[in-house]
Amino acid sequence: MAPSSRLPLVMGNWKMHRGGPDGADLARAVLAALGGRAPAGVEVVLLPPPTAIAPVADAIRGTGVRLGGQSCHAAEKGAFTGETAAPFLAALGCGFVLCGHSERRRLSGEDDAAVAARVRAALAAGLRPVLCVGETLEERDAGATEAVISRQVAAGTAGLDAAAAARLEVAYEPVWAIGTGRTATPAQASEGHGTAREALSRGLGAAAASAVRVLYGGSVNPGNAEALLSAPGVDGALVGGASLEAAGFAAIVKAAAAVRAVPATGG
Ligand code: PGA
Repeated sequence: MAPSSRLPLVMGNWKMHRGGPDGADLARAVLAALGGRAPAGVEVVLLPPPTAIAPVADAIRGTGVRLGGQSCHAAEKGAFTGETAAPFLAALGCGFVLCGHSERRRLSGEDDAAVAARVRAALAAGLRPVLCVGETLEERDAGATEAVISRQVAAGTAGLDAAAAARLEVAYEPVWAIGTGRTATPAQASEGHGTAREALSRGLGAAAASAVRVLYGGSVNPGNAEALLSAPGVDGALVGGASLEAAGFAAIVKAAAAVRAVPATGG
């Protein structure tokens, strides 16, 4: 697949919000703001809390908007109180799941090995894993950005064959930009994306790597979406806070459809 054929992907990560009946309300509001269905030229995925997945699935059925989970456990089932197994997400109609979001890495102690196990569990369940990577502010200040992104990508994709690589997504989210309102500049985003794609190429081979979408995440909002989505190498957005506001999220989706996110030169 040529780089220019990567379909832009915009994901709304609701985090621990809208987990009750109000989740379906938000999904309906997003749909209304999109004019009733996902626009052409962009893939739209909602990531509600696990408790809202079933009602959101009902709300979006037949609209082209897709569904995913925010995390999955590495095991298929077992004595893991409070966790969600990847096959459970698939059974509810999810097509995607985040693996190794920085909040999981930081707050739930998921290290590179744990994240890699979740990527494999997601693939085994038929989901598309979204491997989340990104440096902290301390790591950036120490000049370790490239090393951190490369290590996290290499660890998360180790041993994946071409068929698995074809179902992988990556999200580059500088930790210092998440939920802070402090967005990376388009140039910083492109740099991080370039590093991630080089690491993908080393691990998976250039052909397989060129098909993987790399999303930007970290304080994406309707005001900065167009510039970030136009940055070379940026194939879409993983949106947190701004995805809780239907009109704003729909504006980001429309921006992605408009810029088509991938320049002919790739990145
Ligand atoms: P934010 O979150 O858009 O609120 O910064 C992004 C994310 O954590 O995926």
